[in-house]
Amino acid sequence: MSWFSGLLGKRKEQTAKNPLKLSAFRCDMHSHFLPGVDDGAQTLEDSLQLLQKMQDIGYKKCITTPHIKMDIYPNSEEKLRQVFDQLKEEKERLGIGVEVELAAEYFLDDTFIERLQQRELLCFGRQKYVLMEFSFTTPPVFEEEAFKRVLDKGYVPVLAHFERYLYFHGRPEMAEKYRNMGVNVQMNLLSLTGHYGPEIRKQAERMVDDCLFDFVGTDAHRIQHLQLLEDHLSLPYLAELGKRLVKNQGL
Ligand SMILES: [Fe+2]
Repeated sequence: MSWFSGLLGKRKEQTAKNPLKLSAFRCDMHSHFLPGVDDGAQTLEDSLQLLQKMQDIGYKKCITTPHIKMDIYPNSEEKLRQVFDQLKEEKERLGIGVEVELAAEYFLDDTFIERLQQRELLCFGRQKYVLMEFSFTTPPVFEEEAFKRVLDKGYVPVLAHFERYLYFHGRPEMAEKYRNMGVNVQMNLLSLTGHYGPEIRKQAERMVDDCLFDFVGTDAHRIQHLQLLEDHLSLPYLAELGKRLVKNQGL
């Protein structure tokens, strides 16, 4: 048992009468199921298993968002497209019906702006949403300028898993500040299970209470993430999400 699941075990959980149905969201817009390109799926088999599981738990469509981070995952859009096309072909050959689309999760580093100037970003939806992430522990320094430039280029920034940034704990108003700039905010469903720890769970619950998010995502890196989510659909905060409008439904 992990340290976090140990903690979870000690919290007496209530259960909702109507568990969350993930089919209510229709589309997941944050996952790492391309094989061997980041810390998500490593083999083609892992990828196909993840896709099958996504379908089994109710999703009709999955947008995968491999990391692009210059020091650790210096993926090019071209390479990701190539890997994606091969996976798509294989999942169709095997008759896995869930629809798939390729985007990316761009880390806000020094090279991001350069990339934004030089090429087409991997984005999703008619609105050209671009998923972006910050460091979990070090506050970003030029994020507002970066958001403005992304918007100027005709994209809509989506800030990934707002609740996981430790320096925003106790400052949920930062989500509202970014939203007022035209940024969309995404929350990880697993944050509400306590998977990333009690403080992140608390921040996620606050985001639900104060309606501080636009999208929800699995951020699934491996099948265990989806199993964990499936096991917690009766948690009151997850069940509550089934009643909310989220932008996933329009993708
Ligand atoms: Fe992610």
